[in-house]
Formats: sequence, C-alpha cells, structure tokens
Amino acid sequence: MNKKTLSEIDAASLRGRTVVVRADLNVPIEGGEITDDQRIRASLQTIQTLTQAGARVVLLSHLGRPKGKPSPDFSLAPVARRLDELLDCPVRFVPHPDGPEAAAAVGGLSDGSVALLENTRFLPGDTDNDPGLAASWAALGDLFVNDAFGAAHRAHASTAGLAEAMVARGGEAVAGHLMARELRFLEEALRDPERPFVAIVGGAKISSKIGVISALLPRVDRLLIGGAMANTFFRALGLDTGASLVEEDSIELARRLIEQGGERLVLPVDCIVAAELDANAVTRAVAREDVGPGDRILDIGPVTRERFSDTVRGARSIVWNGPMGVFEVAPFAEGTVQVARAVASACDDGAIGVLGGGDSAAAAERAGVVDRLTHVSTGGGASLELLAGDVLPGVESLTDRSA
Ligand code: 3PG
Repeated sequence: MNKKTLSEIDAASLRGRTVVVRADLNVPIEGGEITDDQRIRASLQTIQTLTQAGARVVLLSHLGRPKGKPSPDFSLAPVARRLDELLDCPVRFVPHPDGPEAAAAVGGLSDGSVALLENTRFLPGDTDNDPGLAASWAALGDLFVNDAFGAAHRAHASTAGLAEAMVARGGEAVAGHLMARELRFLEEALRDPERPFVAIVGGAKISSKIGVISALLPRVDRLLIGGAMANTFFRALGLDTGASLVEEDSIELARRLIEQGGERLVLPVDCIVAAELDANAVTRAVAREDVGPGDRILDIGPVTRERFSDTVRGARSIVWNGPMGVFEVAPFAEGTVQVARAVASACDDGAIGVLGGGDSAAAAERAGVVDRLTHVSTGGGASLELLAGDVLPGVESLTDRSA
C-alpha cells in the first residue's frame, strides 16, 4: 500500500495533539444491547496506540442508516459504554455529531482520553459528502486517522471528505492499524498470492458478487462456487433446479463465466435439498442432475463437501466470501462448516486464509474456526469492492507515503 499509516507517525509527536479518528463502530444493537462487539474490539488497537501516546482522540462513526436525522435507535451511546469498559482511559460520549457542543467537548479533552461523537449519519451532510461538514470535523484536530475499513467504499464527509479537508488545511490523513491490516491481506491476495491460490465464493446472488468473481477468475487456480448462486450456474448448464432460488436474468452471465473459467471454475456436483427451508425439514442428498420439481437446493452435498475441502486443504492462499448454503438453519449448515474447517486446517499448515466480511464471518464463527484464520475482514461491501479491484474512496483520499 502506498498510503501513510499510523505506524509511521512518530509516537512522541502525538502527546497533547487532537487526533480525529473515523472508525466503523456499526455494530448490531437490539433493545439497547450490543449483540456482537467484534467491530469495536477490532478498533481498539488504533485508539490505544493514540491514547497511550498521550493524544486526545475524537472518535467518529456511523451506525446503521438513520437517513440524515437523529433517531434514538441509531445512537452510539451503547457503543460509548462498551468502549469505556474495554479501554483503560476515560471515554466521553458527546450526544452531538457536530456543532458548538461537540467542539466544546473536544476542547475539554485531556491528554490520553477519548470523546465519541454521536452518529455521523444523523446529519444529511455525511452521506452527501458535504465539504463544509468535512471541514468542520477536520478543524477539530491536526491529524486524521481513518480506521473505518468497513466504510472505506463510501465517499462520505466523515471518510474521504474529512481526509481531503484535513490535507487541505495542512494536516495528514493516515490509515489506522485495522485499515492497514485489511488492505495488506485483501490487496495481497490479488497481487502476488502463493500458489495454489483458491477462492471460494458463495451466497445468494451472482449479481452481487460478479465484480469479485470476474476479478478473481483469471488469477486463481480454482474458484469454488457454492450457495444459492450455484443454482443459477446449474441452470446455465441446462439442469433443473426445482423450486430453488435462481437469478433468471443472470443465467447468461453464468454461462459466460463457465466458458471463461474452464476447469478453474468448479461447481457443486451434488446438493442437499428439501421441500422447505425449515429446521425440521426432511432433507435428501442428490446429484445436481436429480433435483426434483418441488426441491429447494439449500446446501452443497457430501461429494462436493469432500472435493471442495480437498482443494482448499491443498491451497497456499485462500480467499473466501459467502456461505455454501443456508448455514443459519442446522440441516443446511454442514457444507459451510466443512469448508470453514478446511480453510482453518490449511491455515494451520501455513496457508494464508482471508475471509470476506458479513455472512462469511458469521459462518466462520459458527464453525468455531475464527481464531485459526489468517484474517477475518470487518468489511462486507468494502471487502467485496476491494477484491473486485475497485479503488476505495476512503483509502484513495489518504496521504501518499512519499508525500
Ligand atoms: C457495513 O456494515 O458494511 C459498513 O458499516 C458500511 O455500512 P453502510 O453499508 O450502511 O454504508
């Protein structure tokens, strides 16, 4: 990566400085309780580096999509409480994302303490990338650290806009530790992976992953397809998919990918089917040619599980994005779990195994293998766009290393 990172900033220069940090603290909250604090934990290293060096940290984040209006359901107050428990320095919650109250709270910060401002998306100017709003956040400090990898594909005022505004007023905009780690693993996978290089792509729709599939297909030794998107490929092969989910308008695209991929593109040869998606459903394992009219394909079958696992265990570089079936429902979890274990065991043997965010991270969690993987991305859309080779505005706007 050619962007400057927080590790390159002299720690001694940070004492007493006000540093604006954009994190992705967009965590699931139910009834005021955080149900998964992974993204908060993943942001700690950057915050701690700064507070331990004596900086005054102004923390910004979005939470959900409140559409430019304040809403208690999208308040960052529970996140501030969690941060206060996890950090060994004072964390002050400021119930305003901007304005005189926010500026006053920031002015009152002591060295080594943190102020978390309210949800940036309570202001329409955030998602509109309003330059005035970006400038007012930049004016709070003299260094901007963008650690919000999960939001790096958004050109918003609190991401790209703030970086540009900070640079415009003579400050620097650098990547935080999490951002740098995400970019290292996801970009490396595309640049010069050790071989064999295997990608596993699953999930419901080809259309939402077409960028990733097209970018990876010419680079990988094998690209394994699972999840409901495999059904669309089956239709492209002229097979019957019964009552399964199919993206009718992507069948032609699937046909082209099959031609283009040749033996590199590997489809399931069998599947687990049921009449309904239910934890008590009666299931059958059938060859892909034997799917009946009322059948719904809900997981890869046992022969495919073995083949995919063998391929994955033999790989030296692995990128995995998307589950192999409806893993949230027990009878259809085995394909995803077995592939997750194969990725973990390849990592145990020294392979690099990188997992895209969202569903895949939840699947790895369910399989109990998260700690054995090289890297689990905190970004859903951002990791897909990066793997597709797209430029992320939140990264592009950072200060160049040579500058
Ligand atoms: C995510 O959850 O993927 C990120 O926090 C970005 O959220 P967004 O899709 O609402 O911009």
